[in-house]
Amino acid sequence: MEKEVIVCRCEEVTMEEIREWIGKGYDTFDELKRVLRVGMGPCQGRGCREIILREIAKITGTPYGEIPPGTIRPPAKPVKLALLAESRED
Ligand code: FES
Repeated sequence: MEKEVIVCRCEEVTMEEIREWIGKGYDTFDELKRVLRVGMGPCQGRGCREIILREIAKITGTPYGEIPPGTIRPPAKPVKLALLAESRED
C-alpha cells in the first residue's frame, strides 16, 4: 500500500519508483530529478523535495543535513501577454 503513495503529485511519481531508483544508485535529488522528473512540476519541488530527501537519508544512512537539497529554481508562473505589452513604453 505504501508503495502506491504518490510522493511527487505534480509528476505522479510514487514512493516505490523513488526507492527503486535510489536502490540503483541515484541517491541525490538532482539525479532523481533527471530520471523521474521529481521537482520539475509547477511547484518546483515544494511538495515533494523534503519527503524525497528524507527517503534518500533513510535508505543511504546519510544524515539528513548532509543530503544536498538539489538545484532550487523559483516556481514558473504564466504571465499574460497584455501585461508585457503594457510595460512597453513606445
Ligand atoms: S510535488 Fe514534486 S514537483 Fe510538485
